[in-house]
Amino acid sequence: MYTAVFVLTLVVLVSHVAQGLDNGLALKPTMGWLHWERFMCNIDCDTDPDNCISERLYMQMADVMVKEGWQDAGYEYVCIDDCWPSHQRDAQGRLQADPKRFPGGIKKLADYIHSKGLKLGIYGDVGTNTCAGYPGSLGYYETDAQTFADWGVDLLKFDGCYMNWTLLGEGYVNMSNALNRTGRSILYSCEWPLYEWPFHKPNYTAIRETCNHWRNFADVYDSWSSVKSILDWTASHQDIIVPSAGPGGWNDPDMLVIGNFGLSHDQQESQMAFWAIMAAPLLMSNDLRDICPRSKELLQNRHIIAISQDPLGKQGYRTAKVNSFEVWERPLSKKRLAVAVLNKQEIGGPRGLALSSVPGWKFCDPQCNVTQILPQYKEMGVQPLHSKLVVLVNPSGTVLLTVSPISSNFKSHHNLHWQDTSIKDKHSTIL
Ligand code: GLA
Repeated sequence: MYTAVFVLTLVVLVSHVAQGLDNGLALKPTMGWLHWERFMCNIDCDTDPDNCISERLYMQMADVMVKEGWQDAGYEYVCIDDCWPSHQRDAQGRLQADPKRFPGGIKKLADYIHSKGLKLGIYGDVGTNTCAGYPGSLGYYETDAQTFADWGVDLLKFDGCYMNWTLLGEGYVNMSNALNRTGRSILYSCEWPLYEWPFHKPNYTAIRETCNHWRNFADVYDSWSSVKSILDWTASHQDIIVPSAGPGGWNDPDMLVIGNFGLSHDQQESQMAFWAIMAAPLLMSNDLRDICPRSKELLQNRHIIAISQDPLGKQGYRTAKVNSFEVWERPLSKKRLAVAVLNKQEIGGPRGLALSSVPGWKFCDPQCNVTQILPQYKEMGVQPLHSKLVVLVNPSGTVLLTVSPISSNFKSHHNLHWQDTSIKDKHSTIL
């Protein structure tokens, strides 16, 4: 009997481990900062020393992350993107940082970042060149993995430019193995499916076994239309991509652009809410040295971060699209549910949606405890199945709630599926 239980436990454990990249990393969506969207390939340190890609930028960002509460909120990785290396490898064929912009070299930068209790991310490419034309890793996977490990790097973002698409899978897997062979824990962030989608449907089982997160869709820009296009792509592919997300491996809808120039505050709240619902890595690309207090408060909102980092590790999905509202839901631990209601009507004022019309609400039988997280934190108390509660949502804004059913024989929301929805696309109005 005990043997049978033991064998069964072992089988369950082994099959669980085999599903994801088994490096023990990214058990929750990665949190940190990544330079690309805000600082791009600015290498002009002579005229723009404060914003160019240099060791100073990452050191200053790390200082602020510690001093201004970012680290305490959970943001941990300080990540370099493209344009850091010299155009030439060294005499041993190793990548080297641009000597003018990184006079101390990456190892010294990593030591500095580590001395602050933070982690350092770096960027490379599976093909012959990075997207901005710097040296790629094709033919150098072992060397580059070892170089990154020797420097004390903690995360590698591996891009997919300048690579024959039929070789992408092999390249990403080989680099994953090379990283594992270094013996250093290096979180592996891929762009494999993004570069495969134009040709065929990617193999998400293989991707999950190889990477800790993976980009599926185009680069985020500092605009609401960009954020919306990411949400649309995600919802229209959710049956393919949502099942592959879980502890150790996540879909990556790209950086948070909160605190920059292009999003209104309501739109910033929408990005934050939906990145939490999508169990997305929270990698900010902004200038933490100069960020408005409201954006800072939003990015450090512990209630939203708790949804993002929920230990159940399930990605949420769109459950209803009705009357220019979208409802997305994410199953949470302790049988709770996070619900985000987005008002997609970009004309007029705030509009109401009855909570009892939300698909997940059917689990509120007989009662639910409701907490509003955005736009303001508000305990909304115990609500009955036929609650009259209506949430008011600003144009392009989001109301984010958590719902905890109160019931003795509660039906598990884990069976909730986007295809179960009773109102999906069927009713033109539910108000
Ligand atoms: C690609 C990636 C971006 C960024 C740039 C750098 O476009 O998708 O996230 O890394 O390359 O050149």
